[in-house]
Amino acid sequence: MITVAGVSQVFETARGQVHALEDIDLTVRENEFVTLVGRSGCGKSTLLRIISGLIAPTEGAVHVGDEVVTRPRRDVSVMFQRPALLPWRNVLKNVLLPLEMLGLDKRQYLDRAHGLLELAGMAGFEEKLPHELSGGMQQRVSLVRSLIQQPKVLLMDEPFSALDALTREELSVELQRIVAEESTTIVFVTHSIDEAVLLADRVVVLSPRPGRLQKIVDVPIPRPRTLGRNAHADQVSHISAELHDLLQPGPRAAA
Ligand SMILES: Nc1ncnc2c1ncn2[C@@H]1O[C@H](COP(=O)(O)OP(=O)(O)OP(=O)(O)O)[C@@H](O)[C@H]1O
Ligand SMILES: [Mg+2]
Repeated sequence: MITVAGVSQVFETARGQVHALEDIDLTVRENEFVTLVGRSGCGKSTLLRIISGLIAPTEGAVHVGDEVVTRPRRDVSVMFQRPALLPWRNVLKNVLLPLEMLGLDKRQYLDRAHGLLELAGMAGFEEKLPHELSGGMQQRVSLVRSLIQQPKVLLMDEPFSALDALTREELSVELQRIVAEESTTIVFVTHSIDEAVLLADRVVVLSPRPGRLQKIVDVPIPRPRTLGRNAHADQVSHISAELHDLLQPGPRAAA
């Protein structure tokens, strides 16, 4: 579904070049849920922006399906850390916004909008304005908005990191349920190892300066998954421990 081939990114800045990514190769299968972890500044957001077509890589190319990505596309949706809802529009009108931007007929998507809002636990809030909602609810609306046009690919950049821990866990569990119904291919950036393991089929670990693909860790734990006590706790802690080790600053850096 997504192929990242030989992608490198160099930013030119006033203080010289920043090598954000180096020679990244990655394939994400259809309907796969991949999480992307790595220390701050290792290039996670940059990689996501390249996959989304918001920036062009210095080297290499990204394909979604058979097409090379050259600009943002309708079947690839992006969700960021902050909900970025328009404050003067109610929930339903915020959800319908991408359709306006894509020039699609909103009336054809009204049932879908209501269905997704219900799936996200937001039925009955259609007329509310963003400031009347909690942060978690705003992020639910934002998720529904990013799914409205039925994207094949959903790219998520730390979408829950501004929320409190409990809300965040709750949303992670619900996200799995919502996207299971949608059959969407997902790349999800997170700083949280727990979140990465809970959500992912595979966890991609990037190492910093320049960002390189350090390792891909499989998470062969059956779904639906939950946090807390469960039958796979041993497996989860084993994978989490491996990720903790991988994310340590290297022995050279520590010395
Ligand atoms: N537009 C830009 N111009 C110059 N440098 C940039 C630009 N965008 C990112 N960088 C640099 O590229 C590197 C990777 O940044 P990026 O935001 O992708 O990291 P990240 O892994 O998402 O970090 P975080 O976990 O803190 O969000 C950093 O050194 C950053 O300063
Ligand atoms: Mg980032």
